[in-house]
Amino acid sequence: MNSLHAPAASSAAASADVAAHSLFTPLDGIIGAETDRLDLSRPLDDRTVEAVRTAFRDHHLLVIRNQSLDKERMYRFAELFGPIEGHMIRLSDGSKWDAVHTITNLDAGGNPVAKPFISSNYFWHTDKSFLREPSLLTMLHAVELPPNGGDTQFADMIAAYDALPEDTRRRIDGLKSVQSLEFMRRYTGSAPPTEDDIVAAPPIAHPLVRTHPETRRKSLYIGMYSSHIEGMSEEEGRALLEELLEHATQDRFVRTHRWRHGDLVFWDNRCLLHRATANYEMGKHRRVLMRVVVKGSVPE
Ligand code: OGA
Ligand code: MN
Repeated sequence: MNSLHAPAASSAAASADVAAHSLFTPLDGIIGAETDRLDLSRPLDDRTVEAVRTAFRDHHLLVIRNQSLDKERMYRFAELFGPIEGHMIRLSDGSKWDAVHTITNLDAGGNPVAKPFISSNYFWHTDKSFLREPSLLTMLHAVELPPNGGDTQFADMIAAYDALPEDTRRRIDGLKSVQSLEFMRRYTGSAPPTEDDIVAAPPIAHPLVRTHPETRRKSLYIGMYSSHIEGMSEEEGRALLEELLEHATQDRFVRTHRWRHGDLVFWDNRCLLHRATANYEMGKHRRVLMRVVVKGSVPE
């Protein structure tokens, strides 16, 4: 970075960098870092909080091993990154999700089912990109895991953008894609949204190439909610979106997280796509993860 544009290097920021780099170890391959040196069952000191924030900014996906958190502790840790998101979507029994809720493959009676109520998670997406202010980060904590599989995959939209041919980058910079809950439900074969859902969250146009508010890096902002491109015919827009998604989710941009008991994992929805993987016997084994989401800002 040109030193003229570098932020004034306060010693607090410099020491957070050092601490972040000794606390977290980068994972092999693309994106992510892990640590087994934190205990989130107690409040963290300010220096450690800064180190975790710095590692999150640098790695976009953090894995904290061996945790055993209740809802309250998970909420307290997540809110270090910003205000906690509420949820509007109604579950099969008509209830709404709590701020800290669980995602599972269980039916109302607590038994594993081959096709869970929410199955759109198995398509590449970034959380709530159909909202004016989509999710900043999503945090999951492994409570019950199948003996094998049940992985979560992440795709690096900064690397995917950087790897595009220059003429494609020129073509897509400045375009907006329309993100729609109704489109997503059709695309993923899910139940259509209610009138209330559509009124609460009408389709919205967001930049196709998003700039990260902290690092200023550009990334592709696409996924299952991206319906079409503003100002382009539906056919041409769909073709472009499918082409970009195929490019962006090649193996070289993807990390597969194999869950371990006690894992706490959180990721930056502003620059990663993610999806669940149905690589276990869903009708037989239980998969239960606690979940909480931090609200983000209007994409720029
Ligand atoms: C989510 C999500 C994927 C998974 O929690 O937003 O998409 O593997 N989860 O459960
Ligand atoms: Mn998700």
